[in-house]
Amino acid sequence: MSFEVADTLDMSTPAAKRASYELLAAQVRSLIEGERDMVANLAQFSALVWQSVPELNWAGFYLARGQELVVGPFQGKVACVRIPFSKGVCGACARSREIQRVEDVHAFPGHIACDSASRSELVLPVIAGERLVAVFDLDSPRPARFDAEDARGFAAAVQVLAAGTDWP
Ligand code: SME
Repeated sequence: MSFEVADTLDMSTPAAKRASYELLAAQVRSLIEGERDMVANLAQFSALVWQSVPELNWAGFYLARGQELVVGPFQGKVACVRIPFSKGVCGACARSREIQRVEDVHAFPGHIACDSASRSELVLPVIAGERLVAVFDLDSPRPARFDAEDARGFAAAVQVLAAGTDWP
C-alpha cells in the first residue's frame, strides 16, 4: 500500500492552519481505514504527525495503565517510560482529562523534562467511550509553539483515531 502524506503542513496563517488541521484529520481517517489494531494505529498516527507538522521534537502516546502512564508508540528521542497520574504535564492531562497547553515548560511546576530541547508542550486526552485510554503528547523546541487552534486541530485528529481503534 502506498499513502501520500502532505509535506510539511502550512501553519503560517490562521486560515492556513485551519485548512492544514482539516487535512490532517482527513489523512488520519484514510491512514487507519480498515485497521483497528491499537499499536498499528498509534504508530501510524505518530509518524504522520511527525512527518507533516512543523516544529516538533517529540510526538507520541502514553497509555493509561491504572493510575500510571506507560510510553507507547512515538517519534523523537527516547523518553521516560512511566509517568504517574500525579506527575508532569501528561499526568495533569490524565487526571483532569483536559487538554494541557503549556507555553513555557520551565514555568510548569512538576514538568518532566525528557528532552532538554523542549520549550512548550501540548497534551491531549484520548477518550474511548467513557474511558481515558491514553494521552497524546507533543513537545516543541519553540516557546509558545501551540495555540488554541493547534489544540482544536489535534483534538479533532485524536478523536478520529480514538473512534477508529480498538482499545484493550
Ligand atoms: N514532558 C512530559 C513528559 C513526557 S516527555 O515530554 C516525552 C510531562 O511533563 O509529562
